[in-house]
Amino acid sequence: MSDKSRFWDREAPKYARKPIDDPASYEKKLAQTQAKFRPDMRVLELGCGTGSTALVHAPHVGEYWASDISPAMIEIARDKAKDAGLDNLHFVVGAADETTSLPDQPFDAILALNLLHLLPDPAAEIRDIFQRLAPGGLFVSSTGCLEDMTSPLVKILPLLTWLGLAPPVAKFSSSWLLETMRQTGFEIETHWGHGKGSSYFVIANKPA
Ligand SMILES: C[S@@+](CC[C@H](N)C(=O)[O-])C[C@H]1O[C@@H](n2cnc3c(N)ncnc32)[C@H](O)[C@@H]1O
Repeated sequence: MSDKSRFWDREAPKYARKPIDDPASYEKKLAQTQAKFRPDMRVLELGCGTGSTALVHAPHVGEYWASDISPAMIEIARDKAKDAGLDNLHFVVGAADETTSLPDQPFDAILALNLLHLLPDPAAEIRDIFQRLAPGGLFVSSTGCLEDMTSPLVKILPLLTWLGLAPPVAKFSSSWLLETMRQTGFEIETHWGHGKGSSYFVIANKPA
């Protein structure tokens, strides 16, 4: 267990049992993403957790790689995939910026769901994702934008992190996110969030 994955390895069994916070938004994100998929696409999902979304998306594309820094998350994901019979779905342990165990780039779509705010340098990750996409490729992100959130929990997050009860979290707004994506070269196709506490969803396109 590495230092970076320790928090998530510990959380994995609980995360696997946790119900989806906002099922209507989750279904909307799935549908908007799948509307962009083609059967020949090569897709990479970063920070896939226990693989629930990967299992839903993989039947709609050619090849689907799903990676996560936490070996415990990937173990659960592989377990869940056993009976699904999806030959095109590959779970891999690795940090978001790692390319080991992944096929040669580029990808036609990269998904980072509930991930960017957990990375130490989200702007660098957005640039990295841009590089790893084929021309015309899609970036699908759903992320907490803590600058937009007013919940008292956000105020005490540094304390929770210090106590080991929350992971380190980057603080940015949805405006910063969209502007950073645009400056990187992405064209924003879709973006929305539901209220102050929700994660912000973006589908962006790398120009062809
Ligand atoms: C909030 S969970 C989201 C899981 C899944 N994407 C979802 O939407 O349910 C965050 C996931 O990101 C993973 N993670 C955290 N830091 C990471 C990093 N640097 N590289 C790759 N995965 C990371 C964690 O192990 C965890 O599984």
